Amino acid sequence: MTEATVPDRAHLAGPLLPVVGSDTLVPLVDGTQVTYANLDVAASAPALRAVADRVAEVLPLYASVHRGAGYLSQVSTALYEAARRTVGAFVGAREGDLTVITRNTTDSLNLLAGCVPAAADDTPGRVLVLDVEHHANLLPWQRDTEATVLTGASTVAATVAELREELEDAAAVGRPYALLAVTGASNVTGEALPLDALVAAAHANGARIALDGAQLVPHRRFSLTESGVDYVAFSGHKTYAPFGAGALVGRADWLDTGTPYLAGGGAVRRVRTTETLWQEGPARHEAGSPNVIGAVALAAACEALAALDPEEVRRHEGELRRRLVEGLESLDRVSVVRVWADAVDPVGVVTFTVTGYDPGLVAAYLSAEHGIGVRDGRFCAHPLLGRLGFDAGAVRASVGVGTSPEEVARLVGAVRALVTGGPRASYDVVDGLWVVVDDPRPVPEGSGLAGLLATAAAGFLADAAACLPDPV
Ligand code: ALA
Repeated sequence: MTEATVPDRAHLAGPLLPVVGSDTLVPLVDGTQVTYANLDVAASAPALRAVADRVAEVLPLYASVHRGAGYLSQVSTALYEAARRTVGAFVGAREGDLTVITRNTTDSLNLLAGCVPAAADDTPGRVLVLDVEHHANLLPWQRDTEATVLTGASTVAATVAELREELEDAAAVGRPYALLAVTGASNVTGEALPLDALVAAAHANGARIALDGAQLVPHRRFSLTESGVDYVAFSGHKTYAPFGAGALVGRADWLDTGTPYLAGGGAVRRVRTTETLWQEGPARHEAGSPNVIGAVALAAACEALAALDPEEVRRHEGELRRRLVEGLESLDRVSVVRVWADAVDPVGVVTFTVTGYDPGLVAAYLSAEHGIGVRDGRFCAHPLLGRLGFDAGAVRASVGVGTSPEEVARLVGAVRALVTGGPRASYDVVDGLWVVVDDPRPVPEGSGLAGLLATAAAGFLADAAACLPDPV
């Protein structure tokens, strides 16, 4: 589905799922308050209401995992292992695949980098990656494996051909790649390469394929079984479950024999002062006390997303994206960034520039004068931004199941007001950041912050209490 073919829904519904904080008021520079428009979902998505409710439910049951004889330790262990199964099932894990609970995508890919087997000549395993990747899917390979970073082409077709040729050439000279590591959707443009073509090219040439699913998994139905992808990494904080857990799911053999990611308790079978026998399975990489609340939260998000019709999600987010792109491109001096001219079915991540305004100023203005949260900069994708000529950065708006059409309209209206009338407040760069001169909206500290937290916590706890069973 191209952007042009995303169906236009005259009456696009509000958010598909309720998220916590969608009615939070933030101050504007003119002294008024407005509901925060969180258009920075690609960085960190707000918690689904269902996730927050689930966390509130299980907190009274929380105890040590895999370590305690106590009843609640056994309950917590059961909750943790059930969450692992749910997370694996959500990404279509095959029989025998492992689901390792990690902190996030970066953590997952660092873990996998330590598991890529050495080449036949005992040199580090070879990994092929494109320059379009987020640093999480670039730096671990550069540090821990023999990485080749290809400069991508300006079309999907040419980029796929380039990757295929590199895989074939390497296999032909007897130095095959062990792994092709690719993004499931760019964190800069939302665009993606066709997975089926990449899986076929990798497997035909002796390589496995790992997917950085950070921007894909929360927005599209993805299945290891159906796609043939060998590993997928994703983050709870982008999957509406910001409780510190992510996952790496995929083939067991490399994970069972690779370097244990963390050395410590829980990852071992037997320890002597002179030798250690490491576990196999997920425990090998999960030393230390597991993040049971994070895992349960991530599983709750997976359940809530799995219950949605994937086509409804695609329509909702695709329509929001279309309104963003068309609204922004209709404005003088505003350009939307693209990597591949022929990309189809991008997720709801839209990066843009406004000629004459530094991206940091645009982002500061959107916050100060409109209460809109976006990200600016180079999005942890410096090689790509450099290649595209945006070393000074750009501005990124991103949407998800909790985003309303009004929020998107607010952004387009705010950028229109900027290009037609300029900002109303004065801005300056302080310590490398654009700020409002004499900003009357200091972020509260100390007692002010405590007051704000108390207000937010009271609301959250009241909501949470409402979902607990009545005491008997
Ligand atoms: N990886 C996150 C992003 O792209 C933080 O914004």
